Amino acid sequence: MILVTGGAGYIGSHYVLYERERGNEALVLDDLSLGHREAVLDAPLIVADLSNEAVLDAVFRSYPIDAVVHFAALASVPESVAKPHRYYRHHVAHTITLLDAMRRHSIPYLVFSSSCATYGDPQYTPMDERHPQNPINPYGESKRICERMMQSFDEAYGLRYVSLRYFNASGADPEARIGESHDPETHLIPIVLQAANGKRRSVAVYGNDYATPDGTCIRDYVHVNDLAQAHALALDRLRAGGPSATYNVGSGTGHSVQDVIAACREVTGRQIPVEEAPRRAGDPPILVASSAKAEAELGWRPQYADLHTIVETAWRWEENRRF
Ligand code: UFG
Repeated sequence: MILVTGGAGYIGSHYVLYERERGNEALVLDDLSLGHREAVLDAPLIVADLSNEAVLDAVFRSYPIDAVVHFAALASVPESVAKPHRYYRHHVAHTITLLDAMRRHSIPYLVFSSSCATYGDPQYTPMDERHPQNPINPYGESKRICERMMQSFDEAYGLRYVSLRYFNASGADPEARIGESHDPETHLIPIVLQAANGKRRSVAVYGNDYATPDGTCIRDYVHVNDLAQAHALALDRLRAGGPSATYNVGSGTGHSVQDVIAACREVTGRQIPVEEAPRRAGDPPILVASSAKAEAELGWRPQYADLHTIVETAWRWEENRRF
């Protein structure tokens, strides 16, 4: 059985649905501070905070868990710049509590949500896993520290892990049963779609003087179901005896903020008012993945690689959202 921390959050809930649709059991642990009870659908849910060692001990004693997929985290780069204490506590402190509980209960496998934000400004693009890690915001730094902690736990205690460095998670369940719902929302695609359906007056474009063709930041948008698939494949590989490893998970294609707005206009057929705004702190100009290693070693193949398709699924959710 898989324990999914943060399984009521955006990426975690899509992963839980992905596993359950394949007949696998997933137990969700989420404090619902950011996640949504509705996002879990009918999966079993324990409402608790990851800092609670007694709950972790009880869960590992009571259920036949052999693997943890650890999503529970905060997810806003600008907030991490303004409130770093929250990011180090939620990422570093909670992850060490979890790792230590796994050590006590001899839980062998962990799949971890890491991030392209651990790389910082690109020295070359697309970035592969050997790219130096020099994060430029506390979000990326705190995730990088978690990667180091897992490595030490592997060396000392034989805990085997896969760290998945996501690029920009996006899109929603194609049937719109679940989708992205942050409060406040800081991510580009939902913000642009909320400007399309009138929930917001306009979209602020943070910086148009970056060294990119149209001056706006370039990101690699990867569909949340493709991310879910990567976790499932990573866990299969660990269970089959594979070694600890780190993989980028991105589509390999970069899209500027302007490209995203254009795709949203096309998909929605709506006018989307845009305003120029200053650069946002902590934003690297370009983040694009080479996911060749995940393709070669995990057999990962994105099913929703195209931006238009990603935006279509996000729009279906935005128009039908239940939470
Ligand atoms: N942006 C705007 N206007 C907005 C929102 C975003 O112009 O209203 C721009 C940002 O400045 C950035 C791009 O759109 O250039 C994407 O921004 P997001 O906030 O959607 O996502 P980030 O690139 O900041 O995502 C980062 C990392 C991920 C990490 C995520 C955490 O790339 O690895 O933060 O949520 F997981």
